[in-house]
Amino acid sequence: MGISAIFCRATGQRYSTPMFFWIAVSFVILVILFVLITAITHTFLRVPYIPTPMSVVKEALSLANLRGNERVYDLGAGDARFLVYAKKQFPNLSVSGYELASTIWILGKMRILLSRQSIEWHMENMFSASLADADCVFVYLLPSAIETLYEKFTKELKPGTKVISYAFSLPQKTAVETHEVQWLTSKRKLYLYEW
Ligand SMILES: C[S@@+](CC[C@H](N)C(=O)[O-])C[C@H]1O[C@@H](n2cnc3c(N)ncnc32)[C@H](O)[C@@H]1O
Repeated sequence: MGISAIFCRATGQRYSTPMFFWIAVSFVILVILFVLITAITHTFLRVPYIPTPMSVVKEALSLANLRGNERVYDLGAGDARFLVYAKKQFPNLSVSGYELASTIWILGKMRILLSRQSIEWHMENMFSASLADADCVFVYLLPSAIETLYEKFTKELKPGTKVISYAFSLPQKTAVETHEVQWLTSKRKLYLYEW
């Protein structure tokens, strides 16, 4: 007996309607495609998609100690959660996100549309972002990517720009503040740097 027949029996619907079955199959195929494309993309990128827990996003924003009218970037912005949260807290911020994985970019686009916030949302390599006007940059990346970004920060960031890194430090620079955050059973750090 097929899934649609079992469903029809359970719900008392007529067996001749296979609509539910095809919707379920299409959904499963979409999820498999999404996972496959994301996995293939991330074999080329140096950093996988692991979203920052919302509790940590909130702590990172408070560590940034913004006035509310600054320009904020998230490099490798994932599903745009940091930017959406920041913009909701401070509507006058200018915020930009760079996310190269197309599937993750779509997740971010959906979050931005649902939030109705105005956010510059780029499907572009973060290394090609121009950071000259940044007041605050948020990153949650692996050490190899952070080390490459350090060169870029040194060339492009204006004096006083804040950089907040979650979980991994910039080994070439001393943090002005570190903040320990708890996620489930593990403890991690937020690092605040000033250029
Ligand atoms: C660990 S996740 C962090 C996501 C988000 N910033 C957050 O905190 O929730 C890193 C993200 O960086 C993206 N990424 C990796 N390399 C990238 C690159 N060169 N340009 C843009 N995005 C990149 C990945 O696709 C992934 O979504």
